[in-house]
Amino acid sequence: MSLVTLIPFNKPSLVGNEIEYLRDAIRRGQLSGDGYYTGKCNARIAAETNGLRALITHSCTAALEMAAMLCDLGPGDEVILPSFTFVSTANAIVLRGAVPVFVDVLANTLNIDPVRVEAAVTARTKAIFAVHYAGFPADMDALAAIAERHGLWLVEDAAQAFGSTYKGRRAGGLADIGAISFHETKNVISGEGGAIIVNRPELVQRAEIIREKGTNRSQFFRGEVDKYTWVDVGSSYLPGELIASYLFAQLEMADEVTARRKALFARYHAAFAPLEAAGRLRRPRWVAGSETNGHMYYLLLRDQSDRDRFIDHMRAQEIGTPFHYVPLHSSPAGKRFGRTSGSVEVTERTWSTLVRLPMFYELGAQIDQVIERALEYFSRVEANRP
Ligand SMILES: Cc1ncc(COP(=O)(O)O)c(C=O)c1O
Repeated sequence: MSLVTLIPFNKPSLVGNEIEYLRDAIRRGQLSGDGYYTGKCNARIAAETNGLRALITHSCTAALEMAAMLCDLGPGDEVILPSFTFVSTANAIVLRGAVPVFVDVLANTLNIDPVRVEAAVTARTKAIFAVHYAGFPADMDALAAIAERHGLWLVEDAAQAFGSTYKGRRAGGLADIGAISFHETKNVISGEGGAIIVNRPELVQRAEIIREKGTNRSQFFRGEVDKYTWVDVGSSYLPGELIASYLFAQLEMADEVTARRKALFARYHAAFAPLEAAGRLRRPRWVAGSETNGHMYYLLLRDQSDRDRFIDHMRAQEIGTPFHYVPLHSSPAGKRFGRTSGSVEVTERTWSTLVRLPMFYELGAQIDQVIERALEYFSRVEANRP
């Protein structure tokens, strides 16, 4: 087998002034965090998400950990989240000593099912952590109503959803707290990177403190206190200026990046329509009023063996098409630290049948090869199936 993949699943690209801004950051003489480019990123992300205050972090994982601290999660508390998500959504809860309560996702959007959420609420529930899978927003109005009814925090894991919209509003600005990823697999990237969006005024100052090792350093630099000291729990969640400068160049191009990915998404969607009409596979679904940022294109195949054979077929053509998310409720750590509420049938079916297709800024005309090879699987390979 070749070590070089002809068409990888993901490939990071320079999209604008990254090199120039990296040089400029070095020239400015501050490589630690919260300098010139951090300020520019924070302002831009707040504007893009319509969030109250955005603070860049070194990952979405870090932003979720900060969110868990801002919700004051602790032993005895429960947080409801989808089982079909990345480990970081749950780890943030477990790190505070609280219990993740896994629920199922909806079969159409693959996002957390509000009916299951409501059924999972107990006297110990403190928060709901929703995820926008593949950049499709979760049903935030239904979740906000449940949160309000039961006095819960609502947190948005918008790791994959920077640039997505829900009823005209941007993901990241839809809940009490939002968390975004700028990991190199995402639309807008800085290698590792993320941001927390704080949408409640009473949480803003504490978010700054938690991000700065539990100190009031940010207030000190604004001249609001005459010395800075340890005032709360916290950690080091801020990235340095090299990351921020790279990220700012990408943020400047966010609309262009999103438009390109949406065009690729549309191309895939049209190409697989006949197979869906024939009942051979299922394409992504979304609800009226929500719009993806084109982060990911996935297909749901008939069963696990079909999915695995598809991946093998594509791998033989050197095209990367990975599956996604071993459900957290069935993982060793999920069983140890969390519990499951209700049936998780959709999650189990989804993880065993889902496959993701290559999606990146420079994919361009190579998408035709991906589609051609995929269609070949469904015609030739399938036709020859014993
Ligand atoms: C839903 C979700 N949450 C959190 C993360 C973690 O993001 P990061 O790698 O920036 O920590 C990811 C990463 O892919 C994700 O998909």
